[in-house]
Amino acid sequence: MLTRNPRIGASTVREWSQGLPPGSSILDLGCGHGVPISQVLTEERFSVYGIDASPTLIGAFRKRFPGAHAECSTVEDSEFFRRSFDGVVAWGLMFLLPPDVQPIIVRKMARALSPNGKLLFTSPKEAVRWRDELTGRESVSLGAERYRRILDTEGFVLDGEQSDEGDNHYYSVSKPLEGVAVFPRFHAKNGPGSPTSRVSATEDTGKKSPPRPGRSSTSGSLRRLLRGHRNRRTWYK
Ligand SMILES: C[S@@+](CC[C@H](N)C(=O)[O-])C[C@H]1O[C@@H](n2cnc3c(N)ncnc32)[C@H](O)[C@@H]1O
Repeated sequence: MLTRNPRIGASTVREWSQGLPPGSSILDLGCGHGVPISQVLTEERFSVYGIDASPTLIGAFRKRFPGAHAECSTVEDSEFFRRSFDGVVAWGLMFLLPPDVQPIIVRKMARALSPNGKLLFTSPKEAVRWRDELTGRESVSLGAERYRRILDTEGFVLDGEQSDEGDNHYYSVSKPLEGVAVFPRFHAKNGPGSPTSRVSATEDTGKKSPPRPGRSSTSGSLRRLLRGHRNRRTWYK
């Protein structure tokens, strides 16, 4: 496995996190050993929850961030700590999941987010299949058009879409407050911090919703859909 450049993604995640209230809870899916994504979030004093399928990487994560919450699990199997989050980040994860699992994980992320919560994930803009250099794993991007449709289906609002210094294409989206209409305000100009393509009417309130403890982000129907995708792969040491 190649070594990950620890600078790539750091500034994008830092900037994205500035859109969340101080002290927010953030779920880092496929967190690996935590550098740089969870490291940035910890430096910014967020409450970080990491999930990774690799026992070795989650072990390194636990050592590095003793104050963070950590779970060794696949995102397919995880109950996402049975709570809701203000932010979810999945950097370098989505394309490692089988194509039919990816929309289900987007749905799980939508369920795990509080209203007004934010999601950031990466996957190439083009619909492509390749062997990932970093992990050696078969990788599949569904492509920007399909991701936009999936996000729309799950009720997300696209805040920005851009490629970073490492050529990682990222999607920055928000979950509107419940029961609030979404209306067009700006024309799309990509990138975090830039005007949004569609903005929720209540986005400006900055209200932080309380966590909903005990609520599972995996419903019975999602669990059934995910059945059959388990234990198919080996994890990094
Ligand atoms: C390319 S690495 C990215 C790690 C980290 N997010 C970063 O940006 O440095 C992908 C990570 O996702 C984890 N991973 C892959 N498939 C997973 C799955 N189905 N569930 C949970 N973690 C997974 C791997 O163990 C690995 O740590």
